[in-house]
Amino acid sequence: MTESGNARLLEEASAYTPGGVHTSIRIIDPPLCVRRAEGAYIEDVDGRRYIDYHAAFGPFILGHCYPDVVERVVAAIRQTDLYGVSTTELELALAKKVVEHVPSVEQVLLCCTGSEATFHAVRLARAVTGEVLDNTLVCDFNDLHAVERAVRDHPDDVAAIILEPIPHNLGCIMPRPAFLAGLRALCDREGIVLIFDEVITGFRHHIGGYQAICGVTPDLTTMGKAMANGFPMAAVGSRRELMQRFNTRPGGDVYFAGTFNAHASCVAASLATIDVLETGKVHEHIFRLGERMRAGLRDIVDRAGIPATVAGFGSVYVLYFMEDRPISNYTDLLRNNAPLFVRYRQELMKRGVFEMPMNLKRNHISYSHTDADVDQTLQAAEESLQAALAGCRAQR
Ligand SMILES: Cc1ncc(COP(=O)(O)O)c(C=O)c1O
Repeated sequence: MTESGNARLLEEASAYTPGGVHTSIRIIDPPLCVRRAEGAYIEDVDGRRYIDYHAAFGPFILGHCYPDVVERVVAAIRQTDLYGVSTTELELALAKKVVEHVPSVEQVLLCCTGSEATFHAVRLARAVTGEVLDNTLVCDFNDLHAVERAVRDHPDDVAAIILEPIPHNLGCIMPRPAFLAGLRALCDREGIVLIFDEVITGFRHHIGGYQAICGVTPDLTTMGKAMANGFPMAAVGSRRELMQRFNTRPGGDVYFAGTFNAHASCVAASLATIDVLETGKVHEHIFRLGERMRAGLRDIVDRAGIPATVAGFGSVYVLYFMEDRPISNYTDLLRNNAPLFVRYRQELMKRGVFEMPMNLKRNHISYSHTDADVDQTLQAAEESLQAALAGCRAQR
């Protein structure tokens, strides 16, 4: 990789913006500044092309600049944008779609980011349970006993339990069979609101979210990312009785507002994305390619004879460099060889494959990726692994 236009652009941007980037985790080594994107590919300012699995941390379920989405957005913003009053036919159409598909959702509110959706959900949960614990109790994923203990130790204090049903923020940790159902039963027993943060899993794993796969229905659901294939759209939803607490309805006592909520461009993007997902072809394709990628990676690490774990679900995959034992929680992931993990991905970049070179970050396959992309990636993976192993050995 040359010391390139990428480095120069980032350096100039640093004069105007702290660090040169507008989100804390966009700095990588080597720097990569993308100028254009199409389908499964991104191209940097020097014209180098990469197969992209970072997918901007996950929104791209169809692929970059996906024509159906772009066309619907352009058509929408030629005649409409944002009014800050009442509602629109587009917004109603999207709300109907979310209610139709996501099992826990009878009513929905749209906002711009997963962060907003999540804090609205927490605020609603606190209002519903009337409990005001200001602190957060952190329990290990998959440890139902620890959660039960925490609830027992704070009687009448716990407003909500919030979790990703599959913690993808750490790559991929699958829930043990009884874990999510156990949380549901605990919340029912203790009057606690169960919130699934489906910002990553929603729409990506199933049009109805992971809850449609696991069969456990939370009280509140937050969604974002893949919901609009790259446009800033997110949502919080629940059953009618709880959603009625938001002050979008006269008399509601839980604040909900946002100047840019439900901008027509994003609503149109979301409707177009959902239309494509409804064909059923997207999930069939991305799940199949996910399996192909994971199987290929398993073969590669077996041939290399190194400790490695290939994790993932559906379109998400991640190759950890640690012994292949079941992963239950974050502590288990501390065994990952982070320097090798990052170095391997830096080597992938040299070979035209972009997986975020940052510890524990997951990869996403989109509808635009092909079998040939996966095969090319696997070839790059084999070479990158050998190069990364040699590089790490030389450093020792
Ligand atoms: C599980 C989860 N929830 C919420 C968020 C916040 O979403 P946003 O970045 O759109 O604010 C993220 C972002 O990565 C996420 O991974």
